[in-house]
Amino acid sequence: MAEASESVLTKTDECSDDECGSTESPRSVMDVLQELLLSKLRLGDSEEKPIQVLDEVNFDGVVRYMASDKCKNIIVMVGAGISTCAGIPDFRSPDSGIYANLQKYNLPNPMAIFEINYFKENPSPFFQLAKEIYPGKYKPTVCHYFLRLLYEKKKLLRLYTQNVDTLEILAGLPADKVVDAHGTFHTSHCINPACRKLYTLDWMREKIFSDEVPSCTECQDTVKPDIVFFGERLPERFFVSAEEDFPICDLLIIIGTSLSVQPFAGLVDNAPAKTPRFLINKEKVGQSMYPIVLGPGLQFDSETNYRDVMWEGLCDDGCQALADALGWGEELKKLVEDEHSRIDQERQQ
Ligand code: APR
Repeated sequence: MAEASESVLTKTDECSDDECGSTESPRSVMDVLQELLLSKLRLGDSEEKPIQVLDEVNFDGVVRYMASDKCKNIIVMVGAGISTCAGIPDFRSPDSGIYANLQKYNLPNPMAIFEINYFKENPSPFFQLAKEIYPGKYKPTVCHYFLRLLYEKKKLLRLYTQNVDTLEILAGLPADKVVDAHGTFHTSHCINPACRKLYTLDWMREKIFSDEVPSCTECQDTVKPDIVFFGERLPERFFVSAEEDFPICDLLIIIGTSLSVQPFAGLVDNAPAKTPRFLINKEKVGQSMYPIVLGPGLQFDSETNYRDVMWEGLCDDGCQALADALGWGEELKKLVEDEHSRIDQERQQ
């Protein structure tokens, strides 16, 4: 329960309109939690019948469905696992994950480095880590470019990412197709609620690489990139887009995430009951431990499973296998090759 409670990324204090990007009065934690609980407890009210859409509940069944004209509103949910092959560590892998390598910061617990209250007291561990994982020196992976093919073939409704490495945009996905559920490095704000001055990516990059804790030029408080810390509310766009997108989602693909952080992980139960769900991951995840509150989750091992399929292995291999089966395999390989050489040339200039 500690993981679920610590990982609920919701605002504990009011946010200013520019931070939430909304003119409505921001919702409190209780509003969000009550909405989440009510939507889960009303599971029976939706009268949705579990209709099997796949002709076979396996990889080949997913491929045939994707190739059909019934499948044209795919939502993809991704996490840090899709960027590990780019050289960016994920969070929870036992040896290589970020949380397994933070001893030098003497944190009260590994996740403290991303907790807003700890950050306000002691921001320097975060900025030292930010320098290590800063976007800009990595290249998108096979998986990122598979997502671009989904978009180019007009199958992608939306990509929900927990990552802040911006590799989805670098891979060529348009911003309106990407929901940065856990924020972005693109902008930063002064953390002083009475100030909230906006800063650019270039300004923040210069501070991070000069090993100084960025302080506001107006009020001298700390400036933080707009990535969502534990204890902060997710961007309003996450909630608005999810309400619009999931009711029309006809295939949910989940790639490279432990599905251990709410409310992002709970999205897996927001698609219609008949929508197939396809996981590509090194390990089986998303089988809900708290079915009453958080919804039943992925049901791979249930006797009555009629829609959940898992491809167990590396994200890049899974996406290449999917592309090969769809007849897009050579196109994907060429896209990766051409784009990587383009990026290398641009970075040498
Ligand atoms: N191929 C397939 N799966 C992989 C690969 C890979 N190359 N690399 C890692 N994985 C899997 C791991 O086994 C794990 O299940 O991806 C998942 C990554 O999980 P996490 O490290 O927990 O990352 P993520 O799910 O994105 O974390 C969610 O937690 O700390 C917060 O805000 C932070 O956005 C982050 C959130």
